[in-house]
Amino acid sequence: MSHPLPTESAPPVRVWDLPTRLFHWALVSCVLGLIVTGNMGGDMMPWHARLGFTVLSLVLFRLAWGFCGGHWSRFTQFDLHPAKALAYVRSIRLGVHSPQIGHNPLGAWSVCLVLVLLLLQTASGLVADDEIAFTGPLSTWVSGGSVSLATWYHKAVGKKLLLLWIAMHLIAMVFHRLRFGENLVSAMFSGNKTSVHQDTPSHDRAKNRWLAFICLLLSATLVWCLVNLPSVGSP
Ligand code: HEM
Ligand code: HEM
Repeated sequence: MSHPLPTESAPPVRVWDLPTRLFHWALVSCVLGLIVTGNMGGDMMPWHARLGFTVLSLVLFRLAWGFCGGHWSRFTQFDLHPAKALAYVRSIRLGVHSPQIGHNPLGAWSVCLVLVLLLLQTASGLVADDEIAFTGPLSTWVSGGSVSLATWYHKAVGKKLLLLWIAMHLIAMVFHRLRFGENLVSAMFSGNKTSVHQDTPSHDRAKNRWLAFICLLLSATLVWCLVNLPSVGSP
């Protein structure tokens, strides 16, 4: 569970291990690339697909890292009890909010939500069809109706939900900075926050980084196998 974090000067605690930070900034770069290439279409679609496969690998990696990653990246530290989220919102409204060392209860919900949105976006992309020159690698595995539904979701629903999530995410960062003076962004670069509570630090040693590398390799291999499945009907 997240513990309140006092704002006075205090020793730094490693909160986001290097793999979590690299995951985050790689995800940001790929999602931005996907929005650009998706809207450009045409010759950019093979790049769109490659970036999409990378995002799927990253999300699978993050799911695994939620079980074996640094202390504050683990799902066991995500406070998903709805009452906690409501209490957190109330504390903000009453101005008695206290900063958290890990994800706050709303942040934990938000992370879960974006992982689901990214899975839906990549899954729908894998079977989508732009009806010009590009089809997702698994489109032959599903019916024509499912291809249309997935393409509709990908373009008309998933894209908008993701853009909305990103906007809310950025607003949350600015809000925390302006309202509470918390610089969450610098922690996503340095990995550290300050705390006088002697909170458990996230392990971020070579051993943990090798484990992350193996998780990423396994995730990427799984995605490679998935997207290279033979087309249904091909000899
Ligand atoms: C998180 C991952 C992804 C994001 C954020 C994303 C985003 C987008 C965006 C913004 C568009 C343009 C939609 C429009 O024209 O309004 C698009 C189109 C498209 N994407 Fe993705 N995409 C992702 C993953 C994938 C994957 C993995 C594939 C398949 C390999 C894929 C296949 C397509 C196709 C076929 C279209 C064209 C649909 C059409 O114009 O009819 N996408 N995507
Ligand atoms: C495409 C856009 C973005 C996506 C998809 C995204 C996704 C995510 C995800 C999944 C997390 C959870 C990290 C984890 O526990 O593994 C996160 C956290 C975070 N993101 Fe982003 N992010 C985006 C853009 C940004 C940008 C542009 C910034 C900085 C200006 C930013 C700053 C942060 C920070 C500071 C956190 C940690 C929040 C906390 O302390 O609880 N993100 N983001």
